[in-house]
Amino acid sequence: MQIRGRVLSVASECVPFIKTGGLADVVGALPSALAGAGWETRVLIPAYRALRGHLAAMEEVWHEGALFGGDGRVYFGRIDGVDLYLLDAPHLYDRDGGPYSGPGGDWWDNPQRFAALSWVGARMAREGVSGWKPDVLHAHDWQAGFAPAYLAYHGAGGVKSVLTIHNIAFQGWANVGLLSDLRLPREQFHPGALEYFGNLSSLKAGLVTADWITTVSPTYAEELMRPAFGMGLEGVIAARRDRVSGILNGVDTAVWSPEAEEPAFSVKTLSGKAKARAALSAEFGVDVPGPLAIVVSRLTDQKGIDLLPLVIPDFVAAGGGLIVLGSGDPALEGAMRALAARHPGRVAVRIGYDEGLSHRLFSGADAVLVPSRFEPCGLTQMYGLRYGTLPVVAATGGLADTVISASPATLAAGVATGITFYPTDALAFGQALSKLLALHADAKAWAQTQKNAMRHPVGWETSAAAYADLFAGLVR
Ligand code: ADP
Ligand code: GLC
Repeated sequence: MQIRGRVLSVASECVPFIKTGGLADVVGALPSALAGAGWETRVLIPAYRALRGHLAAMEEVWHEGALFGGDGRVYFGRIDGVDLYLLDAPHLYDRDGGPYSGPGGDWWDNPQRFAALSWVGARMAREGVSGWKPDVLHAHDWQAGFAPAYLAYHGAGGVKSVLTIHNIAFQGWANVGLLSDLRLPREQFHPGALEYFGNLSSLKAGLVTADWITTVSPTYAEELMRPAFGMGLEGVIAARRDRVSGILNGVDTAVWSPEAEEPAFSVKTLSGKAKARAALSAEFGVDVPGPLAIVVSRLTDQKGIDLLPLVIPDFVAAGGGLIVLGSGDPALEGAMRALAARHPGRVAVRIGYDEGLSHRLFSGADAVLVPSRFEPCGLTQMYGLRYGTLPVVAATGGLADTVISASPATLAAGVATGITFYPTDALAFGQALSKLLALHADAKAWAQTQKNAMRHPVGWETSAAAYADLFAGLVR
Protein backbone atom coordinates (compact mmCIF):
# COMPACT_ATOMS: atom_id res chain seq x y z
CA MET A 1 0.00 0.00 0.00
CA GLN A 2 1.34 3.38 -1.00
CA ILE A 3 1.59 5.90 1.85
CA ARG A 4 -1.00 8.65 1.43
CA GLY A 5 0.04 10.55 4.54
CA ARG A 6 1.07 10.48 8.17
CA VAL A 7 -0.96 10.87 11.34
CA LEU A 8 0.12 11.67 14.88
CA SER A 9 -2.59 10.37 17.18
CA VAL A 10 -2.57 12.09 20.61
CA ALA A 11 -4.48 10.40 23.40
CA SER A 12 -4.49 9.47 27.07
CA GLU A 13 -5.19 5.76 26.56
CA CYS A 14 -4.19 3.10 24.04
CA VAL A 15 -4.64 -0.67 24.07
CA PRO A 16 -2.58 -2.72 24.97
CA PHE A 17 -0.76 -0.18 27.17
CA ILE A 18 -3.37 1.61 29.24
CA LYS A 19 -7.17 1.32 29.19
CA THR A 20 -10.12 2.55 31.19
CA GLY A 21 -12.72 2.32 28.42
CA GLY A 22 -13.46 2.08 24.72
CA LEU A 23 -11.28 5.11 23.92
CA ALA A 24 -8.24 2.89 24.47
CA ASP A 25 -9.58 0.18 22.16
CA VAL A 26 -10.17 2.69 19.39
CA VAL A 27 -6.82 4.50 19.71
CA GLY A 28 -5.10 1.10 19.75
CA ALA A 29 -6.97 -0.27 16.75
CA LEU A 30 -6.76 2.79 14.48
CA PRO A 31 -3.05 2.59 13.53
CA SER A 32 -3.28 -0.77 11.82
CA ALA A 33 -6.73 0.02 10.41
CA LEU A 34 -5.45 3.31 8.98
CA ALA A 35 -2.26 1.70 7.68
CA GLY A 36 -4.51 -0.50 5.56
CA ALA A 37 -5.99 2.69 4.10
CA GLY A 38 -2.59 4.27 3.40
CA TRP A 39 -2.15 6.43 6.51
CA GLU A 40 0.94 5.77 8.60
CA THR A 41 -0.04 6.44 12.20
CA ARG A 42 2.02 6.96 15.34
CA VAL A 43 0.51 7.30 18.80
CA LEU A 44 1.60 9.68 21.58
CA ILE A 45 0.51 8.86 25.14
CA PRO A 46 1.91 9.74 28.59
CA ALA A 47 4.46 7.43 30.20
CA TYR A 48 2.34 6.60 33.24
CA ARG A 49 4.17 4.77 36.02
CA ALA A 50 3.20 1.33 34.71
CA LEU A 51 4.55 2.19 31.24
CA ARG A 52 7.97 3.51 32.25
CA GLY A 53 9.36 -0.02 32.01
CA HIS A 54 9.17 0.31 28.21
CA LEU A 55 11.45 3.36 28.08
CA ALA A 56 14.71 1.41 28.32
CA ALA A 57 13.93 -0.31 25.01
CA MET A 58 12.95 2.93 23.28
CA GLU A 59 14.91 5.77 21.76
CA GLU A 60 14.85 9.30 23.17
CA VAL A 61 13.69 11.58 20.36
CA TRP A 62 12.51 14.81 21.98
CA HIS A 63 13.38 16.94 24.95
CA GLU A 64 11.03 19.56 26.30
CA GLY A 65 12.39 21.77 29.07
CA ALA A 66 9.97 23.58 31.36
CA LEU A 67 6.95 21.39 30.80
CA PHE A 68 4.59 22.67 33.48
CA GLY A 69 7.00 22.25 36.35
CA GLY A 70 9.63 19.81 35.10
CA ASP A 71 11.34 18.23 32.11
CA GLY A 72 9.58 16.16 29.47
CA ARG A 73 11.26 13.59 27.27
CA VAL A 74 9.65 11.68 24.42
CA TYR A 75 10.76 8.16 23.59
CA PHE A 76 9.92 6.27 20.41
CA GLY A 77 9.72 2.58 19.67
CA ARG A 78 7.61 -0.05 17.98
CA ILE A 79 5.98 -1.88 20.85
CA ASP A 80 3.35 -4.60 20.55
CA GLY A 81 2.85 -3.62 16.93
CA VAL A 82 2.23 0.08 17.68
CA ASP A 83 4.60 2.90 16.61
CA LEU A 84 4.56 4.51 20.01
CA TYR A 85 5.77 7.81 21.44
CA LEU A 86 5.80 7.89 25.23
CA LEU A 87 5.94 11.29 26.94
CA ASP A 88 7.98 10.82 30.08
CA ALA A 89 7.43 13.67 32.52
CA PRO A 90 7.74 12.09 35.97
CA HIS A 91 6.42 15.17 37.79
CA LEU A 92 3.14 14.75 35.91
CA TYR A 93 2.68 11.03 35.26
CA ASP A 94 4.90 8.91 37.50
CA ARG A 95 2.25 8.22 40.18
CA ASP A 96 0.30 5.38 41.68
CA GLY A 97 -3.30 5.26 40.53
CA GLY A 98 -5.23 5.61 37.28
CA PRO A 99 -4.58 7.96 34.38
CA TYR A 100 -6.98 10.59 35.70
CA SER A 101 -7.29 9.98 39.42
CA GLY A 102 -5.54 8.67 42.48
CA PRO A 103 -6.81 7.43 45.82
CA GLY A 104 -8.02 10.94 46.67
CA GLY A 105 -10.04 11.48 43.49
CA ASP A 106 -9.15 13.33 40.27
CA TRP A 107 -5.54 14.57 40.12
CA TRP A 108 -5.55 18.26 41.03
CA ASP A 109 -3.23 19.10 38.15
CA ASN A 110 -5.12 17.32 35.35
CA PRO A 111 -5.33 20.57 33.34
CA GLN A 112 -1.51 20.82 33.34
CA ARG A 113 -1.00 17.05 32.88
CA PHE A 114 -3.01 16.93 29.69
CA ALA A 115 -2.05 20.40 28.49
CA ALA A 116 1.50 19.01 28.60
CA LEU A 117 0.54 16.05 26.44
CA SER A 118 -1.22 18.39 24.00
CA TRP A 119 1.65 20.89 23.98
CA VAL A 120 4.26 18.29 23.16
CA GLY A 121 1.99 16.64 20.58
CA ALA A 122 1.39 19.96 18.85
CA ARG A 123 5.11 20.85 18.83
CA MET A 124 6.15 17.43 17.53
CA ALA A 125 3.56 17.71 14.76
CA ARG A 126 4.51 21.27 13.85
CA GLU A 127 8.27 20.67 13.80
CA GLY A 128 8.52 16.98 12.96
CA VAL A 129 10.52 14.46 15.00
CA SER A 130 13.74 12.95 13.66
CA GLY A 131 12.57 13.52 10.12
CA TRP A 132 9.06 12.19 10.70
CA LYS A 133 6.48 14.92 10.14
CA PRO A 134 2.77 14.18 10.25
CA ASP A 135 0.22 15.72 7.91
CA VAL A 136 -2.57 15.37 10.47
CA LEU A 137 -2.69 15.62 14.25
CA HIS A 138 -5.56 13.42 15.46
CA ALA A 139 -6.59 14.50 18.96
CA HIS A 140 -8.81 12.27 21.06
CA ASP A 141 -11.23 13.67 23.65
CA TRP A 142 -10.62 16.43 26.22
CA GLN A 143 -7.19 15.10 27.17
CA ALA A 144 -5.84 16.14 23.76
CA GLY A 145 -8.26 19.04 23.25
CA PHE A 146 -5.63 21.74 23.68
CA ALA A 147 -3.49 20.25 20.88
CA PRO A 148 -5.55 21.77 18.01
CA ALA A 149 -5.65 25.02 20.00
CA TYR A 150 -1.86 25.11 20.33
CA LEU A 151 -1.56 24.53 16.57
CA ALA A 152 -4.09 27.27 15.87
CA TYR A 153 -2.60 29.84 18.28
CA HIS A 154 1.14 29.05 18.13
CA GLY A 155 1.45 28.02 14.48
CA ALA A 156 0.38 24.85 12.71
CA GLY A 157 3.38 24.33 10.45
CA GLY A 158 1.11 22.99 7.74
CA VAL A 159 -0.43 20.33 9.98
CA LYS A 160 -4.22 19.80 9.90
CA SER A 161 -5.98 18.90 13.11
CA VAL A 162 -8.91 16.55 13.72
CA LEU A 163 -10.59 16.28 17.11
CA THR A 164 -12.57 13.12 17.81
CA ILE A 165 -15.21 13.24 20.54
CA HIS A 166 -15.50 9.87 22.25
CA ASN A 167 -17.60 11.18 25.10
CA ILE A 168 -18.87 14.74 25.55
CA ALA A 169 -19.56 14.10 29.24
CA PHE A 170 -15.88 14.69 29.95
CA GLN A 171 -14.98 18.28 29.04
CA GLY A 172 -11.63 19.03 30.66
CA TRP A 173 -12.67 21.96 32.82
CA ALA A 174 -9.90 24.28 34.02
CA ASN A 175 -9.97 27.45 36.06
CA VAL A 176 -9.72 30.68 34.09
CA GLY A 177 -6.77 31.66 36.30
CA LEU A 178 -4.72 29.03 34.45
CA LEU A 179 -5.10 30.76 31.08
CA SER A 180 -1.53 32.00 30.72
CA ASP A 181 -0.01 29.08 32.67
CA LEU A 182 -1.58 26.83 30.05
CA ARG A 183 -0.02 28.99 27.31
CA LEU A 184 -3.32 30.15 25.90
CA PRO A 185 -3.70 33.66 24.46
CA ARG A 186 -5.72 36.02 26.64
CA GLU A 187 -7.31 37.71 23.61
CA GLN A 188 -8.94 34.38 22.76
CA PHE A 189 -10.79 34.32 26.09
CA HIS A 190 -14.26 35.13 24.77
CA PRO A 191 -17.39 33.04 24.18
CA GLY A 192 -16.54 32.47 20.51
CA ALA A 193 -13.25 30.79 21.48
CA LEU A 194 -11.81 29.67 24.82
CA GLU A 195 -14.33 31.00 27.36
CA TYR A 196 -16.66 28.33 28.71
CA PHE A 197 -19.13 29.37 31.41
CA GLY A 198 -16.53 31.76 32.78
CA ASN A 199 -13.73 29.20 32.77
CA LEU A 200 -11.85 26.96 30.35
CA SER A 201 -12.59 23.59 28.80
CA SER A 202 -9.92 21.78 26.84
CA LEU A 203 -12.65 20.04 24.86
CA LYS A 204 -14.25 23.33 23.85
CA ALA A 205 -10.80 24.70 22.98
CA GLY A 206 -10.35 21.78 20.59
CA LEU A 207 -13.85 22.09 19.18
CA VAL A 208 -13.39 25.73 18.19
CA THR A 209 -9.90 25.34 16.75
CA ALA A 210 -9.71 21.90 15.08
CA ASP A 211 -9.86 21.81 11.29
CA TRP A 212 -12.41 19.02 11.56
CA ILE A 213 -14.49 17.42 14.31
CA THR A 214 -15.54 13.81 14.31
CA THR A 215 -17.45 11.71 16.74
CA VAL A 216 -17.74 7.97 16.91
CA SER A 217 -21.14 7.40 15.32
CA PRO A 218 -23.40 9.26 12.87
CA THR A 219 -26.34 9.31 15.30
CA TYR A 220 -24.22 10.76 18.13
CA ALA A 221 -23.01 13.45 15.70
CA GLU A 222 -26.65 14.54 15.28
CA GLU A 223 -27.54 14.11 18.96
CA LEU A 224 -24.59 16.26 20.07
CA MET A 225 -26.15 19.36 18.50
CA ARG A 226 -29.14 19.09 20.88
CA PRO A 227 -29.21 20.22 24.51
CA ALA A 228 -30.25 16.78 25.75
CA PHE A 229 -26.95 15.29 24.54
CA GLY A 230 -24.53 18.17 23.99
CA MET A 231 -24.08 18.80 27.73
CA GLY A 232 -23.50 22.51 27.23
CA LEU A 233 -21.44 22.22 24.03
CA GLU A 234 -24.39 21.70 21.65
CA GLY A 235 -24.22 25.27 20.35
CA VAL A 236 -20.47 25.11 19.80
CA ILE A 237 -20.84 21.95 17.75
CA ALA A 238 -23.92 23.09 15.86
CA ALA A 239 -22.08 26.27 14.87
CA ARG A 240 -19.47 24.11 13.11
CA ARG A 241 -21.92 21.57 11.69
CA ASP A 242 -20.40 21.66 8.21
CA ARG A 243 -17.12 20.45 9.72
CA VAL A 244 -18.55 17.64 11.86
CA SER A 245 -18.87 14.02 10.87
CA GLY A 246 -19.79 10.79 12.59
CA ILE A 247 -17.56 7.82 11.82
CA LEU A 248 -18.59 4.59 13.49
CA ASN A 249 -15.99 2.71 15.52
CA GLY A 250 -15.05 -0.79 14.52
CA VAL A 251 -13.84 -3.60 16.74
CA ASP A 252 -10.58 -5.50 16.47
CA THR A 253 -11.88 -8.65 14.83
CA ALA A 254 -8.64 -10.51 15.53
CA VAL A 255 -9.10 -10.01 19.27
CA TRP A 256 -12.88 -10.45 19.20
CA SER A 257 -13.23 -13.63 17.21
CA PRO A 258 -15.42 -16.61 18.16
CA GLU A 259 -13.14 -18.82 16.04
CA ALA A 260 -10.28 -17.95 18.41
CA GLU A 261 -12.16 -18.70 21.64
CA GLU A 262 -12.02 -21.94 23.57
CA PRO A 263 -14.35 -23.66 22.75
CA ALA A 264 -14.33 -22.13 19.28
CA PHE A 265 -17.45 -21.53 17.21
CA SER A 266 -18.59 -19.75 14.09
CA VAL A 267 -21.79 -18.89 12.26
CA LYS A 268 -21.57 -22.31 10.56
CA THR A 269 -20.86 -24.39 13.66
CA LEU A 270 -22.58 -23.07 16.75
CA SER A 271 -22.07 -26.17 18.90
CA GLY A 272 -19.03 -24.56 20.55
CA LYS A 273 -21.28 -21.74 21.73
CA ALA A 274 -23.60 -24.23 23.46
CA LYS A 275 -20.58 -25.69 25.26
CA ALA A 276 -19.42 -22.21 26.25
CA ARG A 277 -22.90 -21.49 27.62
CA ALA A 278 -22.88 -24.65 29.72
CA ALA A 279 -19.43 -23.81 31.11
CA LEU A 280 -20.55 -20.27 31.94
CA SER A 281 -23.71 -21.52 33.70
CA ALA A 282 -21.58 -23.86 35.78
CA GLU A 283 -18.95 -21.21 36.57
CA PHE A 284 -21.53 -18.74 37.87
CA GLY A 285 -24.19 -21.15 39.14
CA VAL A 286 -26.74 -19.52 36.85
CA ASP A 287 -28.78 -22.18 35.10
CA VAL A 288 -31.86 -20.91 33.30
CA PRO A 289 -34.25 -22.24 30.63
CA GLY A 290 -34.65 -18.84 28.95
CA PRO A 291 -32.09 -16.41 27.57
CA LEU A 292 -28.89 -15.96 29.58
CA ALA A 293 -28.04 -12.25 29.39
CA ILE A 294 -24.84 -10.40 30.31
CA VAL A 295 -23.76 -6.85 31.08
CA VAL A 296 -20.06 -5.94 30.66
CA SER A 297 -19.72 -2.30 31.51
CA ARG A 298 -18.48 0.57 33.56
CA LEU A 299 -21.13 0.90 36.26
CA THR A 300 -22.14 4.53 35.79
CA ASP A 301 -25.20 6.64 35.24
CA GLN A 302 -24.42 6.85 31.48
CA LYS A 303 -24.87 3.11 31.14
CA GLY A 304 -28.39 2.92 32.66
CA ILE A 305 -27.27 0.29 35.16
CA ASP A 306 -29.75 1.65 37.75
CA LEU A 307 -32.57 0.29 35.56
CA LEU A 308 -31.50 -3.32 36.00
CA PRO A 309 -33.06 -3.81 39.47
CA LEU A 310 -36.35 -2.50 38.04
CA VAL A 311 -36.59 -4.90 35.09
CA ILE A 312 -34.58 -7.99 35.96
CA PRO A 313 -37.01 -9.47 38.57
CA ASP A 314 -39.72 -9.94 35.86
CA PHE A 315 -37.10 -11.17 33.38
CA VAL A 316 -35.80 -13.91 35.67
CA ALA A 317 -39.33 -14.84 36.78
CA ALA A 318 -40.02 -15.55 33.09
CA GLY A 319 -36.98 -17.83 32.80
CA GLY A 320 -34.15 -15.44 31.99
CA GLY A 321 -30.78 -15.16 33.72
CA LEU A 322 -28.19 -12.41 34.11
CA ILE A 323 -24.44 -12.18 34.75
CA VAL A 324 -22.98 -8.71 35.36
CA LEU A 325 -19.27 -7.88 35.04
CA GLY A 326 -18.35 -4.32 35.88
CA SER A 327 -17.03 -1.76 38.28
CA GLY A 328 -17.51 1.91 38.94
CA ASP A 329 -19.96 3.86 41.06
CA PRO A 330 -19.99 2.23 44.55
CA ALA A 331 -23.78 2.66 44.85
CA LEU A 332 -24.33 0.80 41.58
CA GLU A 333 -21.85 -1.90 42.59
CA GLY A 334 -23.92 -2.35 45.76
CA ALA A 335 -27.16 -2.44 43.79
CA MET A 336 -25.74 -5.18 41.55
CA ARG A 337 -24.61 -7.25 44.55
CA ALA A 338 -28.05 -6.87 46.11
CA LEU A 339 -29.73 -7.94 42.86
CA ALA A 340 -27.64 -11.11 42.75
CA ALA A 341 -28.35 -11.83 46.41
CA ARG A 342 -32.11 -11.55 45.78
CA HIS A 343 -32.03 -13.93 42.79
CA PRO A 344 -29.64 -16.80 43.57
CA GLY A 345 -29.19 -19.18 40.67
CA ARG A 346 -30.64 -16.54 38.33
CA VAL A 347 -28.41 -13.49 38.69
CA ALA A 348 -24.66 -13.40 39.38
CA VAL A 349 -22.35 -10.40 39.66
CA ARG A 350 -18.60 -10.01 39.41
CA ILE A 351 -17.34 -6.60 40.50
CA GLY A 352 -14.02 -5.85 38.85
CA TYR A 353 -12.31 -5.56 35.50
CA ASP A 354 -11.52 -8.85 33.76
CA GLU A 355 -10.74 -9.01 30.04
CA GLY A 356 -10.50 -12.82 29.97
CA LEU A 357 -13.84 -13.25 31.69
CA SER A 358 -15.45 -10.77 29.30
CA HIS A 359 -14.48 -13.07 26.40
CA ARG A 360 -16.05 -16.07 28.15
CA LEU A 361 -19.20 -14.06 28.81
CA PHE A 362 -19.63 -13.03 25.18
CA SER A 363 -18.93 -16.61 24.07
CA GLY A 364 -21.42 -18.27 26.39
CA ALA A 365 -24.28 -15.80 26.75
CA ASP A 366 -27.41 -15.48 24.61
CA ALA A 367 -27.81 -11.72 24.88
CA VAL A 368 -25.91 -8.60 25.97
CA LEU A 369 -27.83 -5.74 27.58
CA VAL A 370 -26.77 -2.13 26.91
CA PRO A 371 -29.44 0.22 28.36
CA SER A 372 -27.35 3.40 27.99
CA ARG A 373 -28.86 6.88 28.44
CA PHE A 374 -26.37 8.06 25.83
CA GLU A 375 -23.70 6.09 24.00
CA PRO A 376 -21.30 7.80 21.60
CA CYS A 377 -20.59 4.45 19.95
CA GLY A 378 -20.36 1.52 22.33
CA LEU A 379 -18.29 -1.56 21.65
CA THR A 380 -19.94 -4.34 23.63
CA GLN A 381 -23.03 -4.47 21.38
CA MET A 382 -20.62 -5.11 18.49
CA TYR A 383 -18.86 -7.90 20.39
CA GLY A 384 -22.37 -9.26 20.94
CA LEU A 385 -23.17 -9.19 17.23
CA ARG A 386 -19.95 -10.98 16.37
CA TYR A 387 -20.50 -13.70 18.97
CA GLY A 388 -24.19 -14.28 18.20
CA THR A 389 -24.95 -12.84 21.65
CA LEU A 390 -27.93 -10.74 20.67
CA PRO A 391 -27.68 -7.09 21.68
CA VAL A 392 -30.61 -5.56 23.55
CA VAL A 393 -29.81 -1.86 23.41
CA ALA A 394 -31.22 1.61 23.90
CA ALA A 395 -31.68 3.24 20.49
CA THR A 396 -29.19 6.06 21.03
CA GLY A 397 -25.84 7.04 19.53
CA GLY A 398 -23.80 4.22 18.10
CA LEU A 399 -26.17 1.63 19.55
CA ALA A 400 -28.86 2.90 17.15
CA ASP A 401 -26.36 2.74 14.28
CA THR A 402 -25.25 -0.86 14.80
CA VAL A 403 -28.30 -2.94 15.78
CA ILE A 404 -31.34 -3.75 13.60
CA SER A 405 -34.26 -4.31 15.94
CA ALA A 406 -36.42 -7.41 15.60
CA SER A 407 -39.91 -6.40 14.46
CA PRO A 408 -42.49 -8.12 12.29
CA ALA A 409 -41.01 -6.26 9.30
CA THR A 410 -37.31 -6.95 9.98
CA LEU A 411 -38.01 -10.56 10.93
CA ALA A 412 -40.04 -11.07 7.74
CA ALA A 413 -37.25 -9.49 5.73
CA GLY A 414 -34.70 -11.64 7.57
CA VAL A 415 -32.50 -8.72 8.63
CA ALA A 416 -32.97 -8.35 12.40
CA THR A 417 -29.79 -8.55 14.53
CA GLY A 418 -31.04 -7.72 18.03
CA ILE A 419 -33.55 -5.61 19.91
CA THR A 420 -33.59 -1.83 20.40
CA PHE A 421 -35.75 0.22 22.71
CA TYR A 422 -36.46 3.88 23.36
CA PRO A 423 -36.53 5.89 25.54
CA THR A 424 -34.07 4.64 28.15
CA ASP A 425 -36.52 3.91 30.94
CA ALA A 426 -37.72 0.87 32.85
CA LEU A 427 -40.93 0.57 30.82
CA ALA A 428 -39.22 0.43 27.42
CA PHE A 429 -36.35 -1.73 28.74
CA GLY A 430 -38.83 -4.18 30.30
CA GLN A 431 -40.76 -4.38 27.03
CA ALA A 432 -37.50 -5.09 25.19
CA LEU A 433 -36.73 -7.95 27.60
CA SER A 434 -40.22 -9.38 26.96
CA LYS A 435 -39.40 -9.29 23.24
CA LEU A 436 -36.12 -11.06 23.97
CA LEU A 437 -37.96 -13.83 25.86
CA ALA A 438 -40.43 -14.24 22.99
CA LEU A 439 -37.70 -14.30 20.35
CA HIS A 440 -35.73 -16.87 22.35
CA ALA A 441 -38.83 -19.07 22.57
CA ASP A 442 -39.13 -19.06 18.76
CA ALA A 443 -36.17 -21.28 17.86
CA LYS A 444 -36.32 -20.55 14.14
CA ALA A 445 -36.50 -16.77 14.45
CA TRP A 446 -33.76 -16.86 17.11
CA ALA A 447 -31.41 -18.87 14.93
CA GLN A 448 -32.00 -16.55 11.97
CA THR A 449 -31.39 -13.43 14.08
CA GLN A 450 -28.24 -14.95 15.54
CA LYS A 451 -26.91 -15.68 12.03
CA ASN A 452 -27.72 -12.16 10.84
CA ALA A 453 -25.91 -10.74 13.86
CA MET A 454 -22.79 -12.84 13.31
CA ARG A 455 -22.66 -11.83 9.65
CA HIS A 456 -23.04 -8.12 10.37
CA PRO A 457 -19.74 -6.39 9.57
CA VAL A 458 -18.19 -4.86 12.71
CA GLY A 459 -14.55 -4.56 11.60
CA TRP A 460 -12.65 -1.34 10.88
CA GLU A 461 -12.49 -1.47 7.06
CA THR A 462 -15.33 0.93 6.23
CA SER A 463 -14.56 3.38 9.01
CA ALA A 464 -10.80 3.39 8.37
CA ALA A 465 -11.58 4.30 4.76
CA ALA A 466 -13.82 7.13 6.01
CA TYR A 467 -11.03 8.55 8.21
CA ALA A 468 -8.57 8.15 5.35
CA ASP A 469 -10.81 10.11 2.99
CA LEU A 470 -11.40 12.79 5.61
CA PHE A 471 -7.64 13.20 6.17
CA ALA A 472 -6.97 13.24 2.43
CA GLY A 473 -9.61 15.94 1.93
CA LEU A 474 -8.07 18.10 4.66
CA VAL A 475 -4.47 17.94 3.47
CA ARG A 476 -5.27 18.32 -0.20
P1 ADP B 1 -17.07 3.04 27.41
O1 ADP B 1 -15.83 3.40 26.70
O2 ADP B 1 -18.06 4.15 27.51
O3 ADP B 1 -16.82 2.41 28.74
P2 ADP B 1 -17.41 1.06 25.29
O4 ADP B 1 -18.50 0.10 25.06
O5 ADP B 1 -16.99 1.90 24.15
O6 ADP B 1 -17.85 1.95 26.54
O7 ADP B 1 -16.08 0.33 25.74
C1 ADP B 1 -15.96 -0.36 26.94
C2 ADP B 1 -14.82 -1.33 26.81
O8 ADP B 1 -14.38 -1.73 28.10
C3 ADP B 1 -15.19 -2.60 26.09
O9 ADP B 1 -14.04 -3.11 25.46
C4 ADP B 1 -15.65 -3.50 27.25
O10 ADP B 1 -15.58 -4.85 26.94
C5 ADP B 1 -14.65 -3.12 28.29
N1 ADP B 1 -15.09 -3.31 29.68
C6 ADP B 1 -15.88 -2.49 30.41
N2 ADP B 1 -16.01 -2.96 31.67
C7 ADP B 1 -15.30 -4.10 31.73
C8 ADP B 1 -15.02 -5.05 32.78
N3 ADP B 1 -15.52 -4.89 33.99
N4 ADP B 1 -14.22 -6.10 32.50
C9 ADP B 1 -13.70 -6.24 31.25
N5 ADP B 1 -13.92 -5.39 30.24
C10 ADP B 1 -14.71 -4.33 30.47
C1 GLC C 1 -16.39 6.46 24.92
C2 GLC C 1 -17.87 6.19 24.76
C3 GLC C 1 -18.17 4.92 24.02
C4 GLC C 1 -17.27 4.73 22.81
C5 GLC C 1 -15.81 4.86 23.24
C6 GLC C 1 -14.84 4.69 22.09
O1 GLC C 1 -15.86 5.86 26.04
O2 GLC C 1 -18.54 6.19 26.01
O3 GLC C 1 -19.53 4.91 23.59
O4 GLC C 1 -17.49 3.48 22.22
O5 GLC C 1 -15.59 6.12 23.79
O6 GLC C 1 -15.05 5.64 21.06
